[in-house]
Amino acid sequence: MLRFKLVLCALLLPAAAAVAQPAANGSAPAAAPSLDFEFFKARIEPIFTTKRPGNARCISCHGDGTPMKLTPLPEGSAAWTDAEARSNFDLIRARVVPGNPDQSRLLRHPLAEEAGGDPHHDGGKHWTSKTDPEWQTLAAWVNGATLTSAAANTAPLHARIVQTNSAGDDVSIIDPTTNKVVGRVVGIEVNHGAAAAPDGSKIYVSNEANSTLDVVDARTLRVMSRIPLSGHPNNISISHDGKRVYIAIREQKGVVDVVDTASLARVKSIPIKGAGHNTYVTPDGRYVVAGSVAGSSMTIIDQKTEEIVWDMVFDKGVRPLAFEQNKDGSTKRIFVQLSDYNGFAVVDFATHKEVQRIALPKIAAGKKEVLEGGNTSHGMAVTADNTRLIVNSRLNSAAYIYSLPDLKLVGGVDVGIAPDWVTLTPDGKMAYVANAGSNSVSVVDMGGVKEVTRIPVGQVPKRNITAMLP
Ligand code: HEC
Repeated sequence: MLRFKLVLCALLLPAAAAVAQPAANGSAPAAAPSLDFEFFKARIEPIFTTKRPGNARCISCHGDGTPMKLTPLPEGSAAWTDAEARSNFDLIRARVVPGNPDQSRLLRHPLAEEAGGDPHHDGGKHWTSKTDPEWQTLAAWVNGATLTSAAANTAPLHARIVQTNSAGDDVSIIDPTTNKVVGRVVGIEVNHGAAAAPDGSKIYVSNEANSTLDVVDARTLRVMSRIPLSGHPNNISISHDGKRVYIAIREQKGVVDVVDTASLARVKSIPIKGAGHNTYVTPDGRYVVAGSVAGSSMTIIDQKTEEIVWDMVFDKGVRPLAFEQNKDGSTKRIFVQLSDYNGFAVVDFATHKEVQRIALPKIAAGKKEVLEGGNTSHGMAVTADNTRLIVNSRLNSAAYIYSLPDLKLVGGVDVGIAPDWVTLTPDGKMAYVANAGSNSVSVVDMGGVKEVTRIPVGQVPKRNITAMLP
């Protein structure tokens, strides 16, 4: 590490010059940029583990029996240790020409011949064009990029609705300015919860088919790695600093798995009362809150220490939650949906007491009830200005808007069948209601209290989030 840093410092100036003005073939070796190890670890190694639709992953061949042997990944881990990354770095740097991506084997071999790649690679063609974001990342590294220089060059972020499809193998990405699906993450069966890195670099998705947390590159929408969990997952949340993902494990006795996003590994499991269902991070970032259907419990965990600070047991299973804030951002009340109850409980955060229980309106005449699995009222959200609460009724195939803090009903909106989850645009003007029974998302105007449009998505859409993505 030390040796490397010295080399890096010594070459920093010439390296910068070489980036600005790529050296012509045969120019003085002093002009070649140095290859950054931290950039390699964070951006290049994930390319070797990424699943590209239609391709085998690089690591599936280049870990064993094939030239350019990367360190095989240790059992149960999705990422290499520092020492392994070092040896990978030495292996890979021998296949590139610093300052010259077009002459680098690493970039030519998997690139289509028509796009300037080598005629043949026994591992197939992974990029059809040099504009592929992965190819560009490789080129940036070969040209001397560091994590700092790359951060300054990142693409602007836009609000997106990430819609999981619980019976599908894809996740739909919706642009809320056009209400169109603008991207799809493919290859995650029975995808459940989603969370996004605050810098927009990654999307995390719980994978119920493999019991993994899948890490998706937000630019390419490809799955970079799958992190084994301690059991069957349900919903997830992420800390405000992006360093920890909290996964509810839907198995007895019940834990919240904690994944460290730098090492891409599960680092601990926090026991809660009963199998986990949803986890949340409070809007002020201070607490992780886990709900359990089987344990009828809600557990409040200090985010910094990851210790339990208090819990509460209800008379019914705990389903989705939503958080109302005090003026200083701290949590004021938690709204709690309960099994087989078409409404929600109101918990005062300071006293840990249920202070109210509010029943949703009865179903409109002529509409058919949807009764299944106890998730009668499922999905809630509070606007960032804490003036409105939207609550789904799966039973009524409707969403209801309440004013805050007085919890007065403003009105109801008929949506698709069996609305299961809801997320709001950052300005709180529009709600995106996932209609599990109609494979669509209803866009609800919060002020006008009406459905604006309905967007077709994948099979049985449930959880959704609003995220800032490239
Ligand atoms: C299906 C197995 C397979 C996959 C997947 C695969 N490769 Fe290969 N790769 C090979 C084999 C076999 C060779 C040696 C024969 C050849 O050069 O075609 C090779 C050769 C290479 C070489 C030249 C090796 C050297 O020693 O100089 C590079 C570079 C390379 N692959 C990069 C990649 C990258 C990057 C990926 C993923 C984007 C990838 N490969 C995916 C099988 C694979």
